[in-house]
Amino acid sequence: MSASHPVYRIGPDTFHTDPARLEQTLARYDEGKGLIGGDPRRRPQWLHPLPSEPARAFRLHQSSPEHLQRLRAFLAAGGPLEIEIGSGRGEFILDRAARHPERRFLAFEVKWKLLRRLAERAERLGLTNLWVSDDDARYDLPRLLAPGSVTVIHILFPDPWWKPKHQSRRIFLPPFIAVMADLLQPGGILRVATDVPGYAEYIIAQVTAHPAFAAPRPELAAAFADAVPTSRQAFCDAIGRPYQYLYFERLAAEPSAPPS
Ligand SMILES: C[S@@+](CC[C@H](N)C(=O)[O-])C[C@H]1O[C@@H](n2cnc3c(N)ncnc32)[C@H](O)[C@@H]1O
Repeated sequence: MSASHPVYRIGPDTFHTDPARLEQTLARYDEGKGLIGGDPRRRPQWLHPLPSEPARAFRLHQSSPEHLQRLRAFLAAGGPLEIEIGSGRGEFILDRAARHPERRFLAFEVKWKLLRRLAERAERLGLTNLWVSDDDARYDLPRLLAPGSVTVIHILFPDPWWKPKHQSRRIFLPPFIAVMADLLQPGGILRVATDVPGYAEYIIAQVTAHPAFAAPRPELAAAFADAVPTSRQAFCDAIGRPYQYLYFERLAAEPSAPPS
């Protein structure tokens, strides 16, 4: 394996949820339970600096009002908007932003070193259509974006967080699926990849439990034919580990509840 392709952890293929513990987590979701790095509203300080403004990197509770105003103006401008949650080494989002200058991109990666590198590479490439943050995306997205303003959400090879004690860190929890349903425009796409078979089953069950989403539609892959592999995907390709992409379309109207 080359130095540019790190060796990733291969966890179990099966995946379990502890319903009682999950219920406790969900009861405290609005208090920021499970946010990576803790609840930013209660954070005393940030240890690591972000690339200086006006570089397009931000923290919702640290960046200056002027910088956040620039971000909000970028987000409010017209045209398609794509979000990536968990960019890792950034291969995918940097390439996609460079290929699609007419689109706007917002990428989240909670690991500061990866985020810093992503921001630096975006600057070097002269990308003016990509903003990045090391905030937990689950905290920022509902606070930054208007309902129906997002075209695509990419969540590629997310950490499964197998252990019940880490369930609160999972992305695919009902409150955040509801946020994604709210933010995606009708016909918008939630694009997910995973190499953990049990996690794919879990994601499908969680996402389709929301009335805004139906079963994954593989044919939607055509819209992403030019996407380059992520770092984890390249690792899977190198060791012959299977993975799957799931494409969920945000339905135009949520089916109304049957009369009781
Ligand atoms: C397994 S890695 C995959 C990275 C990349 N997408 C790839 O396929 O190579 C998942 C990444 O998501 C990041 N992450 C996990 N939860 C996050 C969250 N709530 N907000 C932003 N980033 C998150 C982690 O720090 C990690 O780098």
